[in-house]
Amino acid sequence: MSLRLEGKNALITGAASGIGRASAIRFAEEGANVAVADRQAAAAEETAAAVRKLGRKAVAIALDVSDPAQVSAMVATTVAGLGSVDILLAAAGVSHARYGGDGQIVHKLLHEIPFEEWRGLMAINLDGCFLCCQAVAVQMIKQGQGGRIIAIASGAAKMPVKGSGEYAVSKAGVWMLMKNMALELGRWNITCNAIGPGVIDTPMTKQLQQARHFDRMIGHQPLRRIGKPVDVANTALFLASEEGAYFTGSILHPDGGLLMQ
Ligand SMILES: NC(=O)c1ccc[n+]([C@@H]2O[C@H](COP(=O)([O-])OP(=O)(O)OC[C@H]3O[C@@H](n4cnc5c(N)ncnc54)[C@H](O)[C@@H]3O)[C@@H](O)[C@H]2O)c1
Repeated sequence: MSLRLEGKNALITGAASGIGRASAIRFAEEGANVAVADRQAAAAEETAAAVRKLGRKAVAIALDVSDPAQVSAMVATTVAGLGSVDILLAAAGVSHARYGGDGQIVHKLLHEIPFEEWRGLMAINLDGCFLCCQAVAVQMIKQGQGGRIIAIASGAAKMPVKGSGEYAVSKAGVWMLMKNMALELGRWNITCNAIGPGVIDTPMTKQLQQARHFDRMIGHQPLRRIGKPVDVANTALFLASEEGAYFTGSILHPDGGLLMQ
């Protein structure tokens, strides 16, 4: 059987860690070359090395996705290094404005959050996702071969989260961004979908996993386990592969049944 992403070039943001890194490796296992983009330069290099070890091409790109000029340069570097962008997985994100990969949770109610913190999170989660999707869409239209745009939203796109309202609002925005882009880009055979994971074992949920109520919380989910980054990577792989060709404007939930409750 041929590999599911043979000959494809994927650009993954947030690929230095967690879900983005697992997706870079899973995509490479299925034949894709990968541009590994993240603000953590050294860790992005490590992901790129893992991709190369699987026999695929990789370029590591250090950037802040909230900066339009850096996003344009990211797409140009990907095309220069790999030849094209066939798949975008926009996974870069933060759980709150001061998130630095340590899983530290800062809960603030929406009527209390300082505007700079609201904007700081939106600049990455929503503006950053928009900038990456927009720049890649322009490139895909130029290439004339269609494409797949996938954005990591969250189960919080559908479910308000007390103390993390700005995160939930940003992820609801990411989901609507995918639906609107799906509507507009279908004529170029570019599909746009979101993924809304439940609780996944990455640095982002490190502190949550140490909380006293964590086991009880997970125990209430039908599958009674935390998600693995590869659970989300496999969802992205499906949407990026031939099997996912007729999905557009959808959100898929690798969440162990969390949202069903
Ligand atoms: N872990 C979960 O339970 C969970 C659940 C639902 C959704 N998500 C979403 O999944 C995505 C990946 O998160 P994760 O859990 O793998 O966390 P993570 O912290 O392991 O990975 C996020 C990556 O994004 C990068 N990043 C953050 N801001 C950036 C910026 N401005 N520019 C470039 N890169 C930036 C970080 O450096 C990091 O490598 C995020 O969008 C997150 O909101 C996570």
